[in-house]
Amino acid sequence: MRLDRFLGQHRALGRRTVRRLLAAGRVTVDGRPVRDGHHPVDGFSRIVLDDEPLQGKQARYLMLHKPTGCVSATFDPRHPTVLDLIDGESDELHLAGRLDFNTTGLLLLTNDGHWSRRLTRPGGHWPKVYRVRTEDPIEDHYAATFAAGLHFRYEDLTTRPAVLETLGRYEARLTLSEGRYHHVKRLFGHFNNRVVALHRERIGPIVLDPALAPGQYRPLTDQEIHLCRQDPETPP
Ligand code: URA
Repeated sequence: MRLDRFLGQHRALGRRTVRRLLAAGRVTVDGRPVRDGHHPVDGFSRIVLDDEPLQGKQARYLMLHKPTGCVSATFDPRHPTVLDLIDGESDELHLAGRLDFNTTGLLLLTNDGHWSRRLTRPGGHWPKVYRVRTEDPIEDHYAATFAAGLHFRYEDLTTRPAVLETLGRYEARLTLSEGRYHHVKRLFGHFNNRVVALHRERIGPIVLDPALAPGQYRPLTDQEIHLCRQDPETPP
């Protein structure tokens, strides 16, 4: 929403009055005076008129090291969810992406829907990096198949190129630029090779903090939050 419209609606002020308040520098957004009525604001913008706060919900952005054995959901009738790992107020949080029950690694939680939609929208293509361990040896020809894309029958689509870096006979790093249901397992499933351990190391510019043990979390830094607002095509 535009700042002038917010002020008009919030205070039932006429357009001329809003223009006058803005021109006089009496309105600040996130601590800075804003004179341009077109300035974009959302539910998290801290908007102050003179010394009076008009709104400013506290936005929260967390990175969690998801352990095995919990569901990436906000509610589950049978299993613990990742929200059970968050202390205090977690009601408003939702997940920016998901991991399977036994997958570990980086999971992002926030109450900022605009931010998470940008991060997870289908055309977004932020790279997601996984460590994979398989039941059978990973063969050399897998990489070319993953790079060319595989047909996923259920969605009737060809997957975007994925980059496979072999780290050992049974271990690899896989970079995806999309996230389909059971994506990694289905890619390896094409070769009847079962994924026995899966861990997400990175989403776009956000790397799982090595100081976090499974089940621990921390707030994102301002820089991490900001980097995710950029387009994936723009190198951070
Ligand atoms: N791909 C999978 O198969 N599982 C995950 O949890 C994430 C990606």
